[in-house]
Amino acid sequence: METRPLGDSGIEVSAISLGKWAMGATVETWGHVDDRESIAAIHQALDAGINLIDTAPIYGLGHSEEIVGKAISGRRDEVILATKCGLLFPKSSNELPQRCLKPESIQRECESSLRRLRTDYIDLYQCHWPDPDTPIRETMEALRLLIEQDKIRAIGLSNYGCEKIAAAREFGPIHSLQPPFSMVQPRTAEEILPFCHDHGIAVLPYSPLGKGLLTGKFDENSELTGIRARDPEFLGSRFKANLRVVDGLKEIAMNYDKTVAQLAINWAVHYPGVTSPIVGAKRPSQVIENVGGVGWTIEEPDMAKIGKLMEGDVDGC
Ligand SMILES: NC(=O)c1ccc[n+]([C@@H]2O[C@H](COP(=O)([O-])OP(=O)(O)OC[C@H]3O[C@@H](n4cnc5c(N)ncnc54)[C@H](OP(=O)(O)O)[C@@H]3O)[C@@H](O)[C@H]2O)c1
Repeated sequence: METRPLGDSGIEVSAISLGKWAMGATVETWGHVDDRESIAAIHQALDAGINLIDTAPIYGLGHSEEIVGKAISGRRDEVILATKCGLLFPKSSNELPQRCLKPESIQRECESSLRRLRTDYIDLYQCHWPDPDTPIRETMEALRLLIEQDKIRAIGLSNYGCEKIAAAREFGPIHSLQPPFSMVQPRTAEEILPFCHDHGIAVLPYSPLGKGLLTGKFDENSELTGIRARDPEFLGSRFKANLRVVDGLKEIAMNYDKTVAQLAINWAVHYPGVTSPIVGAKRPSQVIENVGGVGWTIEEPDMAKIGKLMEGDVDGC
């Protein structure tokens, strides 16, 4: 698979990455996920040339990292391992995770991740969400120390806007950003993609399939559970509008003998400024389909049609 540079870190990442949120999440979030299938999905991804695997301590409260650690043991050198810090486990099931990017906490979290991932280094360590209570200078000093200690190789941010990224860059290198980005959530294209491009920051968009919406498997009668039942893109008039977009995408995908998921992935892979969309997949069959989203190009007239669909101009296509 084509590879692309992760900023100026010296690390090369595959044109798509594998996301591990659902694989470690609770039933209330992503429904039942089988650990054996998760491990098989990781092996399938590595066999297909995907090298970046993205996880986080908060995904399944350590479970996602443990599955990744188990899956990659014996194959560590094939993997660009990306995990995160800054969201502390809630003390009870009705509390939200607490944001914390204080130096002692980052050091502690990193040690726990290394243990769960069964490794002695993390390739890309990302701040999951900004912490308004910790000066960014302190956070960046802690991350730079981890680089000096050879515990991490590159620093990334996730869910940060341009101003906050600029502030962080004052105190050390930022190699990548992880923002939401897909045909149903295209706002990142406005400011963040050009900003990252101008500053040599790799962009690893998350939820490129709109949490499954852009696979074409949902309709108005679908029973929505877990995370989707609470997501505005799956609710009310927005859901109906999104389904109309997906119908239009199906026609375009058919011209290439591709699925809607493959079209949505290809669109994100080739969007200017994007480095490697992080595609979530629960089982090997999904990985196989999603890998078919790279290695071909959507022609210009179809890109224009997709643009119109995204603007809501369904008839114009
Ligand atoms: N930094 C952050 O704050 C943040 C936030 C969100 C996500 N992320 C990262 O980005 C990754 C991807 O995002 P995401 O999981 O939210 O959404 P996504 O990639 O848009 O959608 C993934 C989900 O769609 C379904 N799916 C995937 N491939 C499919 C296929 N070929 N056919 C049918 N269904 C398919 C699967 O769920 P079902 O089988 O249940 O349908 C899968 O879990 C995450 O795993 C995580 O690593 C990061």
